Amino acid sequence: MGHKRDKISDLAQETKDFGPGNGRLTTDYGVKQTTADDWLRVVSDKQIGPALLEDPFARERIHRFDHERIPERVVHARGSGAFGTFRLFESAEDVTCAKVLTDTSRETPIFVRFSTVLGSRGSADTVRDVRGFAVKLYTQEGNWDIVGNNIPVFFIQDAIKFPDVIHAGKPEPHNEVPQAQSAHNNFWDFQYNHTEATHMFMWAMSDRGIPRSYRMMQGFGVNTFTLINAKGERHFVKFLWTPELGVNSLVWDEALKLAGEDPDFHRKDLWEAIENGVYPKWKFGIQTIPEADEHKFDFDILDATKVWPEELVPTRYIGELELNRNPDEFFTQVEQIAFCTSHVVPGIGFSNDPLLQGRNFSYFDTQISRLGVNWQELPINRPVCPVMNFNRDGAMRHTITKGTVNYWPNRFEACPPATHEEGGYLEYAEKIVGMKARARSAKFKEHFNQAQLFWNSMAPHEKKHIIDALSFELDHCEDPVVYGRMVQRLADIDLGLAQTVCEMVGGEKPEKAGRPNHSKRAHGLSQLDFPP
Ligand code: HEM
Repeated sequence: MGHKRDKISDLAQETKDFGPGNGRLTTDYGVKQTTADDWLRVVSDKQIGPALLEDPFARERIHRFDHERIPERVVHARGSGAFGTFRLFESAEDVTCAKVLTDTSRETPIFVRFSTVLGSRGSADTVRDVRGFAVKLYTQEGNWDIVGNNIPVFFIQDAIKFPDVIHAGKPEPHNEVPQAQSAHNNFWDFQYNHTEATHMFMWAMSDRGIPRSYRMMQGFGVNTFTLINAKGERHFVKFLWTPELGVNSLVWDEALKLAGEDPDFHRKDLWEAIENGVYPKWKFGIQTIPEADEHKFDFDILDATKVWPEELVPTRYIGELELNRNPDEFFTQVEQIAFCTSHVVPGIGFSNDPLLQGRNFSYFDTQISRLGVNWQELPINRPVCPVMNFNRDGAMRHTITKGTVNYWPNRFEACPPATHEEGGYLEYAEKIVGMKARARSAKFKEHFNQAQLFWNSMAPHEKKHIIDALSFELDHCEDPVVYGRMVQRLADIDLGLAQTVCEMVGGEKPEKAGRPNHSKRAHGLSQLDFPP
């Protein structure tokens, strides 16, 4: 309690010291004001008359208030974040030349934003949904963003489908109900029509969809990136974060109750842990596959609907992330932070994963509509290393690039490009030969194996939770076509699962499995397999 009181008085002192003009109230143009209580009026001894539009101070206050809101994120609108530090304890120089992953003496400042996906800014924290886990690493070579989720796979394989999957999950267009993943008919209609979503919806229906705390979730980069080492060799890579506190979930009844009683449950939990010095930590892991082994797996390693099972591609933990400072102001930092999958540093590259390629376009684009073209100048988005180029102007530009030229090459040799040796980013010279076509590989067309491996990996109580979640969800579908088809789809995963859910929600009971079930247990998927 004493500790809590200290915190409150620290904040009170900061508030007292706040602002220019020796703490006196001013307009935005810096002129001190004598009151913030009364609009300028016409006054006589008989009456206090009309308010005058002439009052610039009152007008400024209203103007500023009128424009306080910016568009919320088109997805992941509801979130919370904190500052922290990334430390590397083992160099990965065998696979990458990225300094942030090879220099063990460094501490890299970071900002993490956690989020739900489908709800709007004011929605509840504990709904069943995927959680965002977006990390901005302010490295000395520029910003590196790992824009991940708490689930290692995704609903779609190709970014062209992103508007569909999100539209189907967001509130229905005619009446804006229901919220979040309870947009039942449309959400499940989409899942049925996109067999590639099967693996992911099993994860979303598992306990992973209702985390106990942001501090107790894993984070996955999901997409396949690449690492390039000093010899110019390339590995495919997946990035992941594993919490020191273990992966823990709510139970569904708790989640429902908390959504009503304490909709800010996760936000407060993160804030209070950091305020009280209980800093959450995650181990940073990489799974790597040499370029030559790309086709050695029975799944396509560029398919974001598939995990790389840890028994085939072990995770190597090489670093640690700690969150140790709460934001100073929510809007300026948590709301205005802008992540981009396309932000990588030398030694890290992309792959031909078609979901990633679309994301690389989308994030920069959406920041322009949410924050304006100069969003990278906002303090929270600014790199810690120098930024120098001839990008200029645009609304709200405030960087001043001194000089008489704004083009390259120029007679002063001002702002020359860097060589690779000087740290310049070098694209990996990948040989590509082909025809233009809209296509996906044969392995991309297999959609059920890993959904079955996931189901088979679950402990009995985890299976029960999935059955309960599917029953709750499908029971909220009014359209018999939707829940009837979904029950049949579940038989493609496991006949027992399909029959049990069918008993709860109705529809025609499947008599036989859609396909044989793998008996093999996939390591690393159950929360019980979680490394200590
Ligand atoms: C936002 C993750 C797929 C477009 C986000 C955020 C996360 C995330 C964590 C919130 C960032 C924040 O906290 O500010 C993922 C993951 C994906 C995925 C893991 C699949 C692997 C996609 C795809 C697209 C997309 C395929 C589009 C083609 C967006 C957009 C935002 C967003 C437009 C809003 C960004 C903003 O306004 O700041 N995503 N996403 N995402 N994502 Fe994704």
